[in-house]
Amino acid sequence: MLKSIIFVLLLSFVPLDAFAQDGVLTILYTGAIKGALEPCGCSPKSSSGGLARLSGYILANKEDLKPYLLLDAGNSMGEDTPQGRLKSEVVIESFAITGYDVAAFFHDDLLLRERFVGPLVDKSGIPALSETPSYPASIQLKQGSSVINISTDPKAYKKGRLNILLSERPVSDVKDKKGWDVIILSSGELLEEPVKTDGAVIVSGYPKGEKLGALTLQISDDGLVVGFTHRWQPLNKEIIEDYNIRSLIDEYDKKVADLLKDDEWQLPTNSTYFGYESCVECHQPFFEKWSTTRHANAFATLEAVGKSRDPECVICHTTGYGEKGGFYSATTTPGLMNVQCEQCHGPGREHLADYTVAMASINESVCLRCHTEENSPDFDFSIYREKVKH
Ligand code: HEC
Ligand code: HEC
Ligand code: HEC
Ligand code: HEC
Repeated sequence: MLKSIIFVLLLSFVPLDAFAQDGVLTILYTGAIKGALEPCGCSPKSSSGGLARLSGYILANKEDLKPYLLLDAGNSMGEDTPQGRLKSEVVIESFAITGYDVAAFFHDDLLLRERFVGPLVDKSGIPALSETPSYPASIQLKQGSSVINISTDPKAYKKGRLNILLSERPVSDVKDKKGWDVIILSSGELLEEPVKTDGAVIVSGYPKGEKLGALTLQISDDGLVVGFTHRWQPLNKEIIEDYNIRSLIDEYDKKVADLLKDDEWQLPTNSTYFGYESCVECHQPFFEKWSTTRHANAFATLEAVGKSRDPECVICHTTGYGEKGGFYSATTTPGLMNVQCEQCHGPGREHLADYTVAMASINESVCLRCHTEENSPDFDFSIYREKVKH
């Protein structure tokens, strides 16, 4: 009995000699994924990310990355909506497939817990940490013959171990915390470079999982962190996706499509949107010019990637979505697919009744509803305006 107590005590002071050989450990990390399963692909500049690529990257580079830990610092769940819950499900299942060593879940994630997140986490078997009593706050991971302390509790560092804190707080709140070697945040702050404090290296997960963080620690023979390097691994389309996670996302797309109930759609009385066909007879040349623009093909773009029934996409790739008489689905409102005349010029009812009634005037703000920083980072009104002139 006494012997084993002494042995345990000794163990807890063992230096991180597992790293003594090569003296490095890479911490691969995410945080603040917020249910983002994959990038929308609207622009080459905003097309990095995605859980299938993240896993694919690790699969392909496992040997070179070793020894490594894969951690998620929290705020990974989607919103508490039917679609958001489907996302959360995929996130958790993909964490298990990718082989996360630890994932943290904070308040927002756990709001859903009773009904939803908890059972999924339990079923997936991923080691989960949280600030609530439902899950442990800390976990000790063995790496070779040494032990790493990973925790969501800022007070729970352990002497003589490599201490990693997972937190959802902003940098300003954690930078004075003592005892930690590494602090990984899921605050959603973008820290391009790690913040080095007195004792710790602080990093933050790339918002929406656009990139994978890789922090490589140099560890001395007596277990001290003596240096580090950091890089962001982009997750571009050149990376071969993990097939299992791609299948999960494809299934997710089908479930999202099923959320949309065509039989709940009602033919609007006094329709507000009529579609380009009602303009063609009088504006043939304008119609012909429009047909050559990418606006006229925006729906096929979604069909090609299996997202043509995803409200998060159709809102900008169709006409009048979410409004009375606007696009609902390809089956119920086929005449309102794509970014049509009325999307820019406004609903046509009054002009159709009397063409001397002018349509809404157009300025840049019309375009910016869809050409956002995120979806269209290269947008420049004068250049883009020229491209769609008719
Ligand atoms: C806020 C509006 C908006 C939303 C929401 C949106 N898109 Fe887009 N999308 C755009 C705009 C604007 C472009 C054109 C960007 C450019 O070229 O500057 C575009 C372009 C694209 C393209 C590129 C087409 C090509 O040929 O290069 C793809 C693919 C795409 N979107 C898919 C999606 C998917 C999938 C979703 C949902 C997950 C989505 N979009 C949601 C506005 C949006
Ligand atoms: C309802 C959303 C929406 C509005 C409003 C909108 N666009 Fe677009 N735009 C899109 C989408 C979606 C695409 C990409 C279509 C595709 O390729 O699938 C696009 C593509 C384009 C492209 C092609 C980009 C390229 O590099 O070839 C240009 C140019 C453009 N839009 C200009 C404009 C201008 C100018 C306005 C305002 C007068 C405007 N758009 C308003 C959604 C919109
Ligand atoms: C991407 C937004 C957009 C789409 C889609 C669009 N237009 Fe336009 N349209 C414009 C802009 C911008 C102008 C320039 C008018 C202005 O500056 O107020 C314009 C001008 C016009 C004019 C008036 C030209 C003039 O001499 O004043 C007509 C007519 C017109 N569009 C018809 C159509 C028809 C018909 C369609 C569909 C087949 C269509 N437009 C689709 C943006 C759009
Ligand atoms: C019955 C023929 C007719 C139909 C149908 C029609 N227009 Fe027009 N439109 C006209 C005429 C004629 C003018 C010029 C009016 C004027 O100068 O007073 C015009 C002017 C316009 C203008 C430019 C001036 C303005 O009013 O802002 C736009 C934009 C426009 N139409 C868009 C549309 C769109 C979009 C549709 C389909 C929803 C449409 N029109 C359907 C006949 C028509």
